[in-house]
Amino acid sequence: MSASATLAATFLSDRISALQESQTIAMAKKSRELAAQGHNVINLSFGEPDFQTPQYIKDAAKRALDEGYTKYTPVPGYVELRQAIADKLRRENRLEYQCENIVVSTGAKQALANAVMSMVNPGEEVIVLAPYWVSYEEMVRLAEGVSVRVMGSLENDYKATAAQIEEAITPRTKLIMYSSPCNPTGAVFSREELADIAAVLARHPQVFAIADEIYEYINFEGEHVSLAEFDEIKDQVITVNGFSKGYAMTGWRVGYLAARKEIAGACEKMQSQITSGTCSIAQRAALAALEGGRSSADEMVTAYHRRRDLVLKLVKEIPGFKTPTPAGAFYVFPDVSAYFGKKAPQGETIENATDLAMFLLNDAHVAAVTGEAFGAPNCMRFSTAAADEKLREAFIRIKDSLEKLV
Ligand SMILES: Cc1ncc(COP(=O)(O)O)c(C=O)c1O
Repeated sequence: MSASATLAATFLSDRISALQESQTIAMAKKSRELAAQGHNVINLSFGEPDFQTPQYIKDAAKRALDEGYTKYTPVPGYVELRQAIADKLRRENRLEYQCENIVVSTGAKQALANAVMSMVNPGEEVIVLAPYWVSYEEMVRLAEGVSVRVMGSLENDYKATAAQIEEAITPRTKLIMYSSPCNPTGAVFSREELADIAAVLARHPQVFAIADEIYEYINFEGEHVSLAEFDEIKDQVITVNGFSKGYAMTGWRVGYLAARKEIAGACEKMQSQITSGTCSIAQRAALAALEGGRSSADEMVTAYHRRRDLVLKLVKEIPGFKTPTPAGAFYVFPDVSAYFGKKAPQGETIENATDLAMFLLNDAHVAAVTGEAFGAPNCMRFSTAAADEKLREAFIRIKDSLEKLV
């Protein structure tokens, strides 16, 4: 421990000391440093659309200011926005919810954190389907819960099975957490797979599930199925969604959850003491986004689909990279373990995916994220949310750099 870290340990809480810094953010920071030194860094580490927010949504935000939407907002969100969300859930997801079931938050991230903090007691177990989104385990840690990883196999597109989940359930299990489409793998659960998971929940009515559907619109192949569609377990499901990915609104910070009213009420209480209601202007913009339907999202999805195909082709040309075909989201997540144990020209050995990510950043000037961050240490995540030429150039550089490893 450095001297300043030793000093900090005397006054910072154990809670914050135990918390990991987000590795995606750490990688972005390093690539900015290299770029500042004049290197042409291609950053494929971001989990962010490279598109601008559609103009009609920006216009609604400007109108909101002119119309005086500048005051505190109701803690669970404007009633018009919650009603529009309830309508969307009914129309697109076959889910019946009222305003009282919906809490609008500062990003889907806050909705997830609200749910975990409202549900998990110290020592209770949360089954996290791995590979998982970076923040799940840290949220569980903050709630003093115990995360239990259930790992999907490469052969099953990294999707954990219902049988694996059931095997991991103990008397201490409180929650299951997953994203579909999945960040980082792009895997999408089918109706049959979710029906099997729903059957497990029906056999364990004390267990709840957080279904993170933030990538719902970015789905190239199948239909989107919500776990809450299975009526007998609907009350056990907390559905999380938001505007960041589908509407390219990452900076606006609007997400939401839908759940039975006791859980929604608990999340509202949590939020009332931490942040209060989400930004007034961003909420009005989110309302306009929903009123505009999904056509702007569909245009972006066409580009993500084309880039996914392009990157898959480029990845397949790299010896040793093994990747399933992502059905959604905007990432590819190859197994890169064929390079472990090899030596770089400077003599250092690539022990793991973190070393490989660092080697590629320094040698190819391409930033990606180690699979360690997602509970999959053999893998690396590359974002496909970048221009086609950048993606082509990145994978040419990666291939050249990897050829230097012996
Ligand atoms: C799976 C998943 N859930 C939630 C979030 C958070 O979304 P928001 O930006 O709305 O907080 C992200 C963002 O990267 C994500 O990938």
